[in-house]
Amino acid sequence: MIPALDRQFVFVTGKGGVGKTTVATALGLAVAARGRRSIVCEVGAQQRVPRLFGLEPPGGGGELEVAPGLATTSIEPNAVLRHWLDVQLGSRPLSALLSRSPVFGFFLAAVPGAREVITLAQAWNLAQPQRWGGREQGYDTVIVDAPAYGHALGMLQTPRTFGDIARFGTVRRQADRVRSLLIDARRTAYVVVALPEEMPVTETLELQHELHDEVGIGPTVVVANGMLAQRFSVAELARLEAEPSDGRAPEIEAALVAARSHGRRARAQQAQLRRLRRGAEAPVVTLPELLDSDLGARQLGRLARELGRRLA
Ligand SMILES: Nc1ncnc2c1ncn2[C@@H]1O[C@H](COP(=O)(O)OP(=O)(O)OP(=O)(O)O)[C@@H](O)[C@H]1O
Ligand SMILES: [Mg+2]
Repeated sequence: MIPALDRQFVFVTGKGGVGKTTVATALGLAVAARGRRSIVCEVGAQQRVPRLFGLEPPGGGGELEVAPGLATTSIEPNAVLRHWLDVQLGSRPLSALLSRSPVFGFFLAAVPGAREVITLAQAWNLAQPQRWGGREQGYDTVIVDAPAYGHALGMLQTPRTFGDIARFGTVRRQADRVRSLLIDARRTAYVVVALPEEMPVTETLELQHELHDEVGIGPTVVVANGMLAQRFSVAELARLEAEPSDGRAPEIEAALVAARSHGRRARAQQAQLRRLRRGAEAPVVTLPELLDSDLGARQLGRLARELGRRLA
């Protein structure tokens, strides 16, 4: 069993388009199924999770319950900073005015890592029993759907950089707290999502080294997403390949071509999965490629059950 579902903070990362949002959401459902309150945080302007459940995203960085025990929110640094000003000043109109001041934009643009620290600090805040700026209770598990590699690693690295720059005060304390969470393997899990294809596997193996460099710990689990079922044995595949392709009805010909292509793709995936398993320092779990053109609550539930079976 792999302890990823009982952590306070789960960072889901991987290359663009490999299924991070899908896996983050399925993980959230799997966590909720164990009776833990969980939240999936999208980063930046993305708000895909509510739509996966057929819901409209809430405005203004709000939290929305999308399934029993699972909420979602989108963390946008500008909005977080404005909220911070609201609380500090105790006045929304005043903070609205201030946030239009050039200093506000200057702060976000000029301080390296400011956006990332704010994002991570906000995610950290969601896991606190006593949440800053709100009366709500914190979540048991906060899952961050991190942007593709470069940016995700930037997010991991910045509390250090930022903490070095901001030597004193609340910002420094915040950066330190976030950093201590990120490097704590008992509280934080890193889930790396990969596709079972050559380049994505190579990139995933590189990412785990980078993770070591950035946070001193490797992935907790690697998810090989989109695995095709292998419907043919080696002998059956050879038989399909050997079949001459002339003189048949077009329907039969098309079926043969499709079967060969599926067989080849599945075999190539298996080879890449073996490569991933050899190189990964964390357990690799697989998720099937679902054939539905749009994934919704039902499909996510299925992926969540798969993950729940494999992760403890
Ligand atoms: N196991 C799966 N079976 C079928 N379709 C999948 C599966 N996983 C992801 N998809 C589909 O692949 C597409 C990309 O998935 P997703 O949005 O989760 O990737 P991402 O890594 O978050 O992308 P981005 O880097 O753009 O944020 C989506 O259309 C999603 O529905
Ligand atoms: Mg995504």
